[in-house]
Amino acid sequence: MTSLSPTLDTPDRQELLPAELMAFLPCATPDAWVEWALANPELLLIDHAQCEKKAASTAMSLLYRYVDQPLLLTKMSQLAREELLHFEQVVKLMEARGIVYRHISASRYAEGLRRHVRGEEPGRLVDILIIGALIEARSCERFARLIPHLDDELAKFYRSLVKSEGRHFEDYLMLARRLAPAPIDARIAFFTDREAELVTTPDTVFRFHSGVPA
Ligand SMILES: [Fe+2]
Ligand SMILES: [Fe+2]
Repeated sequence: MTSLSPTLDTPDRQELLPAELMAFLPCATPDAWVEWALANPELLLIDHAQCEKKAASTAMSLLYRYVDQPLLLTKMSQLAREELLHFEQVVKLMEARGIVYRHISASRYAEGLRRHVRGEEPGRLVDILIIGALIEARSCERFARLIPHLDDELAKFYRSLVKSEGRHFEDYLMLARRLAPAPIDARIAFFTDREAELVTTPDTVFRFHSGVPA
């Protein structure tokens, strides 16, 4: 990997992130994104709130579509509730900091992954679950990357989120493996390659899941 794709294997990240998660993600978040985030503290929280809301709504849409999958229903129902709780926590924190919640455009990240989702089942569901695992794992890794640079209140909040998102990543990946008719390693590799491109290449706007500043 190039210098844009730093290793995940540094002591501070090892301490916070589960080994399975580090093995799953294709690369670490580049330092340039961390600097970009620290220069945009308001956008970081506004987009973070958006991400929590979207995570809940993705889980809800799976609840509607796959009613014949009991394990998926249980996991996604729990997930939606937890993500909405995170959403409330971020909004409360924004309020306390005088940050006005406004509409902002989505980053290219989620759409950059979802455009590769297959049209036919069960491939469609498997792809959505793999992407869910990637988004959760990347969110978890980014929280961990930011923690050393944040004030105490935000650092404490993000530490609690590292734990939740780490579990969410595992749930998505477990469901993807269980509900797929055959091994999915090649499909995971396909999506992790796309994910690495999205996080390491120049991006036009700063968001929680952006690439690096152009
Ligand atoms: Fe969350
Ligand atoms: Fe999550």
